[in-house]
Amino acid sequence: MSQKIALVTGGTGGLGTAICRTLADHGFRVVAGYNSGGNHDKAKAWQDKQKEDGYDILVSYGDVTNAESCAQCIATVEELTGGTVDILINNAGITRDGQFKKMSWEQWDEVMSANLDSMFHMTRLVINGMIDKGWGRVINISSVNAQKGQFGQCNYSAAKAGIHGFTKALAQEVARKGVTVNTVSPGYIKTAMVAKIAQEIQDQICAGIPVGRFGTPEEIGRMCTFLCDNESGYITGADMSVNGGLHMS
Ligand code: CAA
Repeated sequence: MSQKIALVTGGTGGLGTAICRTLADHGFRVVAGYNSGGNHDKAKAWQDKQKEDGYDILVSYGDVTNAESCAQCIATVEELTGGTVDILINNAGITRDGQFKKMSWEQWDEVMSANLDSMFHMTRLVINGMIDKGWGRVINISSVNAQKGQFGQCNYSAAKAGIHGFTKALAQEVARKGVTVNTVSPGYIKTAMVAKIAQEIQDQICAGIPVGRFGTPEEIGRMCTFLCDNESGYITGADMSVNGGLHMS
């Protein structure tokens, strides 16, 4: 069986790196999509570091807020791998936290573009190829804060909740074509995104997590890999929580 090709957007970031490495551990040909503000040297350095650690991961530039740039990203993936995307992990995302009463349109719009419009741009480019092959996996990374809301995250909670609506609708459209579409909703995971929160607030949040700690990026990689498995074909339209019990639905 030929190696399946997985594209992870935001692949060089905190969660993305762990997702890429876990997928590579399970035999997938992995491409990390990156934006890094157009800093290609940073992505190359990331790739070199993966190589040093024994991971052969390809990289492809793309700004997920921009349709043309996404098309270029997919073209690069096809050129580098000689195949088409079997697995898309829509992981790229940003925060612009602040109370709604003080939130600017820019804070709202940037979060919507990066976290929700990106679902359209990237998925639209690969879904027909998956349907034609009769096999595919789309995994959309949402958040516990889509499920429960979060003080200071009206923009992020709205965008991330929108992701799961998208998942459920698309899952129905492609269910008979061998393509599954699922959401993974991480809780607070040890990444740079969480490290940006003031320490005192981090401590308060951590105190409310039943498991008693923040999650690791590898724990999210593990869930993604599980959903990519051939044996996971009956799981579709689901929202998989990996949150240490912070929110139980
Ligand atoms: N519930 C109710 N009130 C709260 C509150 C809460 N959870 N948190 C803060 N407040 C209140 C404070 O008590 C204070 O009230 P007073 O003004 O009456 O004293 C007020 O809000 C603080 O207001 P400030 O204007 O001083 O706050 P700020 O604008 O400096 O900070 C914030 C607001 C940036 C949103 C800050 O609260 C914060 O960082 N919150 C955490 C947000 C968060 O969890 N982000 C997750 C990022 S990681 C991620 O998103 C990954 C993922 O998927 C999980």
